[in-house]
Amino acid sequence: MNRFRFRLLFAAIGLWALPRMVRSGMAVRAFRTIDQRSGLFAPHGARLYARFAPLILGGLHDRVARDVVSLAVRHPEPIIVDLGSGPGALALTIAQRVPAARVVGVDPAAAMRELAAARAAASSLANVSFVAGHAEEVPLADSGVDVVVSTLSMHHWPDPASAFAEIARILRPDGEARIYDARFAAYSASELRTFAVRAGLDPAAIKRQVLPGRLVRPYVLVTLRVAGLARDVQATAPVSVRVPAPEPQGITVPSGAEDGESQERNGR
Ligand SMILES: C[S@@+](CC[C@H](N)C(=O)[O-])C[C@H]1O[C@@H](n2cnc3c(N)ncnc32)[C@H](O)[C@@H]1O
Repeated sequence: MNRFRFRLLFAAIGLWALPRMVRSGMAVRAFRTIDQRSGLFAPHGARLYARFAPLILGGLHDRVARDVVSLAVRHPEPIIVDLGSGPGALALTIAQRVPAARVVGVDPAAAMRELAAARAAASSLANVSFVAGHAEEVPLADSGVDVVVSTLSMHHWPDPASAFAEIARILRPDGEARIYDARFAAYSASELRTFAVRAGLDPAAIKRQVLPGRLVRPYVLVTLRVAGLARDVQATAPVSVRVPAPEPQGITVPSGAEDGESQERNGR
């Protein structure tokens, strides 16, 4: 077989296999695995990400910030948590747009947190901080958070069911979580229902939608509302990190969490 025919055959197999891989979820799982092992969150990867992400994600972050602001302004001094805050662009934008808010970025990667903290210091915003933690173990007190937000992080979470239980634990009863993820890596509606059940939540508390876009629709939004469910969740899915006494705002960041080395589990 000459080279041209070989390439033609290869392309034909690719065209046949790709839609099937996408439909079966294989492509999504493959992408998730590659992304999780990419080393993106080691120092050099984090710096690269911080540099180039705004070019690609500026529009998403702006849209998400608008969504979060519209939820947050319902509360007088809202507490907003960004899970998997990375180099901090979204958390900083929200903190800037809602000066009355306190915004806490949570991320397991020290390299990401350092970049985020440096940006916060440069912007002189006093209402934003970045702490070490995982979506599955958030170092914040129960029922103190008005809005949880997350962008492009969920497909990295090793245990999304524990993360849902944790989100339900930290949200106030009228709080809401908005989790945005890349469509090609995001969990399906049935996977999300399974996570919800494992987390002790009513699957109806979780909604998944593909967001509208101009030419393509690259993002998925998962909404989690826990009205009336938080107490049940604590009973069925206890989590190990508890912060004893909430501060007046209803949120507590443990001392030393800022450097986060004790909780560093990146690269597990
Ligand atoms: C692709 S980056 C997204 C960063 C940022 N949210 C953004 O939109 O630019 C994914 C982030 O999720 C974080 N991450 C990975 N595993 C996590 C977990 N279990 N819980 C919370 N965040 C996690 C990574 O450290 C990384 O900063």
